[in-house]
Amino acid sequence: MTSMHKIIFVCLGNICRSPMAEFIMKDLVKKQGIAEQFEISSAATSVEEIGNPVYPPARRILAEHGISCAGKTARQMTRTDYAHYDYVIAMDHSNLRNIYRIIGSDFEHKVSLLLDYTSDPHEIADPWYTRDFETTWNEITEGCQGLLKAILNE
Ligand code: 4NP
Repeated sequence: MTSMHKIIFVCLGNICRSPMAEFIMKDLVKKQGIAEQFEISSAATSVEEIGNPVYPPARRILAEHGISCAGKTARQMTRTDYAHYDYVIAMDHSNLRNIYRIIGSDFEHKVSLLLDYTSDPHEIADPWYTRDFETTWNEITEGCQGLLKAILNE
């Protein structure tokens, strides 16, 4: 029997970075033939974008790489998510503070930054402001590859 790995990616709006991470990660595990061992989702810390689809430039760069995010709409992270998922993966330090406001304390040590799983840990800048979705794509892809490696090696 194989274990189930449950991952939720979290950012401020859940329309740019965390949905990109969700669908990049889903694509990685599908290509490795291990999709059935994973439950992968994404959520916002804010209520700003709830119900909205993935932001068009983010959707476009996923599509350029053959990845669909059809049907995804933004939702806010809850304490129930914290209980359910094994990995709560934030994009920047501000996300971490907002996550702690939702969950209280990370008693189960589930919360980390995506780029902690790379050789160059740093925050993923918000492309909502930088407009540089190419850099966002590259960094999130590298983070997801590192996270997947870490999970499979645990
Ligand atoms: P995300 O980008 O956190 O990567 O989804 C943002 C999307 C919307 C807003 C901020 C960041 N906003 O302020 O509405």
